[in-house]
Amino acid sequence: MKDGDRRPIPMLDLKGEVEELWPELEEAVLRVLRSGQYVLGPEVAAFEEEVASYLGVKHAVGLNSGTDALIIGLRALGIGPGDEVITTAFSFFATAEAIVHAGATPIFVDIEEESFNIDPSLIESAITEKTKAILPVHLYGRPAQMDQIMQLAQKYNLKVLEDCAQSFGARFYSRDGSTSDLDGRMTGSIGNVGAFSFYPTKNLGAYGDGGLLATNDDDVARLARMLRNHGASPERRYEHELIGYNSRLDEFQAAVLRVKLKHVDEWNEGRRAAAREYERALSGLEFLQLPEMTPGHVFHQYTVRTIGVPRLRLLKALEGQGVAASVFYPHSLDRLPILTSEKRNASGSPVANADAQQVLSLPFWPLIDKSTIARVAASLAVQKAH
Ligand SMILES: Cc1ncc(COP(=O)(O)O)c(C=O)c1O
Repeated sequence: MKDGDRRPIPMLDLKGEVEELWPELEEAVLRVLRSGQYVLGPEVAAFEEEVASYLGVKHAVGLNSGTDALIIGLRALGIGPGDEVITTAFSFFATAEAIVHAGATPIFVDIEEESFNIDPSLIESAITEKTKAILPVHLYGRPAQMDQIMQLAQKYNLKVLEDCAQSFGARFYSRDGSTSDLDGRMTGSIGNVGAFSFYPTKNLGAYGDGGLLATNDDDVARLARMLRNHGASPERRYEHELIGYNSRLDEFQAAVLRVKLKHVDEWNEGRRAAAREYERALSGLEFLQLPEMTPGHVFHQYTVRTIGVPRLRLLKALEGQGVAASVFYPHSLDRLPILTSEKRNASGSPVANADAQQVLSLPFWPLIDKSTIARVAASLAVQKAH
């Protein structure tokens, strides 16, 4: 972008990657069109194999959405009515919604200040005799503290379902120089189940809805394959053994995702480079608290905390300069009336409640250039004078 550029800056630009990959995408889409097979065919099977190998898991099951991956994952783990599932108080609604759809009760635990993720030190006190699972979310692409979560799960014999909707390609590393045998593992390969979303804005995004369940457990994979197709056994088509769903991944999305999977590491590196650039450009603005650059973080979003300046004022300043910005999320889950009851909120969530008032996500995509980041920073810097 040239100096003095006043063109609006969107929250994200998906068209750049389409242009970059046009010949490969065209070939993939036409291949499906000509094949005559459009749902759960060879592209889905190949994609499942490729993702399983990328993530380092035994099974990958292609589904209709990340929400379905959570619901089907919970059900395949045997979670249902009467069970409690411990999860973060700060996530997209679907995380909690899926628990309710599975028939269980979400129990919200507050988040850590540094990571926006569930605080493992608060989990133990939320465990009751009804607790069956922990559902951490790797929010904004930063892995949750899986070493501590897995230790707790082992101690209390709980299942772990990772919500990886925002963390495709992220790797876990333990904190503070301590080491763990989980170091370097992909998110989604650590718990009993990893649930992924391929909504177009995600780090690996389809051109429609899509999702996937990852697991090393043969029984969970088999149940998930049944649940995605009306509870029918894969071998005996019209023998419905379970009440399932129509949650099949289609061939077009799988073919597109196969093309994009080859580029996801490079794009995640682009996201990390963009985050470093934002860090440089925003470091002088004392009213912003910037996210930490930690190993394995894939920056689904670049989300700052607005401290000392009302968020609304910054949003208006950005809007006035034609710069998009978003709030992910304006309410913590424990405060949403549809989800709130005494027993659903373990101990209050002051950090999540405060973050819901302070978080601000800035324009961000893998190919965002330095001059765009400089323009966003300049629009925010205007606040300095106030
Ligand atoms: C944290 C989180 N969980 C679950 C979902 C649900 O995924 P989907 O939109 O594919 O159903 C999303 C994304 O929208 C998400 O961000």
